[in-house]
Formats: sequence, structure tokens, C-alpha cells
Amino acid sequence: MSDVVFSGVDKVYGDVRALNQLDLTIEEGELLVCVGSSGCGKSTLLRLIAGLEQPSAGDIAIGGQSVNGVPPQQRNVAMVFQDYALYPHMTVRENLEFPLKMHGLDRPEIDRRVQRAAEQVHMEELLERLPKQLSGGQRQRAAMGRALVRKPAVFLLDEPLSNLDAKLRVNVRAEIAELQAELGTTMAYVTHDQVEAMTLGRRVAVFHQGRLEQVADPQTLYRKPANVFVAGFIGNPPMNLLPAQPSGEGEFLVGEQRVRCGGSPELLRRTATLGVRPEQLCLCRSDSEPGLAGQVDNIEHLGHETLLYVRLGHDPAALAVARLQGMQPFVKGERVRLAFEQQNLHFFDADGKAIFNP
Ligand SMILES: Nc1ncnc2c1ncn2[C@@H]1O[C@H](COP(=O)(O)OP(=O)(O)OP(=O)(O)O)[C@@H](O)[C@H]1O
Ligand SMILES: [Mg+2]
Repeated sequence: MSDVVFSGVDKVYGDVRALNQLDLTIEEGELLVCVGSSGCGKSTLLRLIAGLEQPSAGDIAIGGQSVNGVPPQQRNVAMVFQDYALYPHMTVRENLEFPLKMHGLDRPEIDRRVQRAAEQVHMEELLERLPKQLSGGQRQRAAMGRALVRKPAVFLLDEPLSNLDAKLRVNVRAEIAELQAELGTTMAYVTHDQVEAMTLGRRVAVFHQGRLEQVADPQTLYRKPANVFVAGFIGNPPMNLLPAQPSGEGEFLVGEQRVRCGGSPELLRRTATLGVRPEQLCLCRSDSEPGLAGQVDNIEHLGHETLLYVRLGHDPAALAVARLQGMQPFVKGERVRLAFEQQNLHFFDADGKAIFNP
């Protein structure tokens, strides 16, 4: 058993609350991706699992055993750090051997494990090189190899691809997912990149300011965000979050536009924010079609699509972006109306919590 369970965990540094009342389970053998912007507590989460930090409150269990107070070397957890930190004066082979020598393994066992790990990360040909003689991606794989030789029960990766260029990142990401599936090792993978999280994770945990905002599979995060934070984090561009004032008669005022609400009076009363994905907005085909009226604020031509930013009123928050197919001939200041389908609207209350997802 090597699941990791956080129960009511807080981590406080002085007056910074890096993790706040965290309840989260990383299931045995799963690849859980933790995502959030800088400073939200991702590295802290991994450091707590590795035993490099102790929780300020709450309990962490690995494989059913509480590990509070258990030192890192007794946890059978391996971590690849944000800046993969290979020993620069040692060859790849020596880097891989190092943790095994520390554990006092005998020579045949060391050789066997190094060989196996080198095969797993496709580094067999590069074992005699120094880190400076490797590309970024190869260095990254060497760092993973060094973590793997220990046959950890739990494998922690802290933004392992941040030093790689975009193309290599895609390749190494796929390799990591394959390796994890092959090894079946419990893995927590940290990134600040929501695209990486969505493509890599079967389950993704979204963090914000030390809080776990939602943990779910990528489709659920996209289709049923639990709150405005997740709605505004997932997707590129993310969901439009527009201030909505109930204005009686089953209607909202969004910007200066009245929008009919198909929902219950209760929904109407509690809604403070209306959410709609940019890909679910299009141009109104006729004047009679209900839509969000406004002025073009900016246009981004991406070739295959155009992002059209439309100001809906005086409130600075009332700016909607529509994702339109192909090249669209608009000019700044032009008046347009954006159509949507009632069934694609999300509603959030004044605390930002989703009260209705389609
Ligand atoms: N040793 C420490 N002492 C004081 N504050 C700390 C310490 N370590 C982390 N923090 C603070 O705790 C918060 C969470 O830090 P953490 O390193 O977990 O963020 P992160 O999500 O990994 O960010 P990044 O994406 O930039 O790596 C931050 O506000 C950080 O400044
Ligand atoms: Mg970090």
C-alpha cells in the first residue's frame, strides 16, 4: 500500500499559510497532478510528503501509516526537484549510483538497479557523460533516473519540465505518463501550467493560496468547475466571468444588457456571476436574437481562430472574449452582439461557489 492521505493538514510559515486545511488522497498507483499559480503551496505539499517539512496541524499517512515525525530517509519517497540538481562533477552513472551507495547496497545490486533505471529513462548510452554534456531533456531524464533507482513507493515531481523548451516538454511529458503507467508507482506531479495538468492528469488537484479548490478529472474541471477560481483558471482563454445583477422578471443585467435566465427564482436571486466559455459565444445572426451587446475592445488573430474581446458596459469586469472560427474582419470600437445558448451558462453565487453548471 502506498496511497498518501492528507487529513486536515495546515502548513504555516510565520504569517504565511502555505497550506490550509488540506484533505486530499493520492490513490495507490495513480498519477495525481497538482496545479496552481506561483506561491499556492504546491512545493510545500510535496515537501510534506517527502518529510522535508512537518505539518503545522493535521495528519499525513503513507500506505495507511501516519508519517508525522518520520524522517525523509525512512519514507521510501523520491522527489525530483524544480531545478533538477544533478551533481555536476559526477557522471550520470555516478549520479544514479549515489543514493544506492548512501543506502549501503552491494555492487551487483547497484549495477542491476542503475542499468534498469537507465533503460526506463532511455539513458543507457549516456551513462558516462557529465551533466554539462547533456541536453536539458536528457538532464531531466537523468534526474528522474536517479529518483527511480531507489524504487520509491511514492514518486514526487516538482515542475520537472520547467527548464525545457515547449516541444521537448510535450515529449518528456508523454514519457513520464508512460513510465508512470508502466511502473504503477504512486506519483504526485506539480505544475503551474494548466495545459500540462489537463493533458497529463487522470485526476487534477487545483490549488489557490494554500487551498484545494477542486480535485477531479480534466473533463469535470472544464465542464463543472466548482467555483469561479477553477472556472477562471482552466481553459485558454478561460471562462468569461461576468458580473450579473438580477433585475426581476427572470432576467439579469450583464453589463448594460438584459439576459433572460431559464433557471429558478432561487437561482436568479443568488447569482452574482455569470460564466460562459469563449468557445460558446458566437455572433448574433439577427437583431431579434438575444445576446450580449457591446463594443469591440481588442482583436487577436490567431489564424485558425479569432479572439474577440467585447466590452459590455462601464464595469471593467464586464469584458467578454469570444472564440470565433477563422479570420474575422473586425475593427476596434465596432458594435457587436454575442449570442449564447442558455444551456451553456454557468452561475456562481457571491462567494464564487458554483450554484449551477450545465
Ligand atoms: N521556508 C519558508 N519560509 C517562509 N515561507 C515559505 C517557505 N517556503 C515556502 N514559503 C511560502 O509559502 C507559500 C507556498 O510556497 P510554495 O513553495 O509551496 O509555492 P509553489 O506553489 O511551489 O510556488 P512556485 O510555483 O513558485 O514554485 C509561498 O507564499 C512561499 O513564499
Ligand atoms: Mg514550487
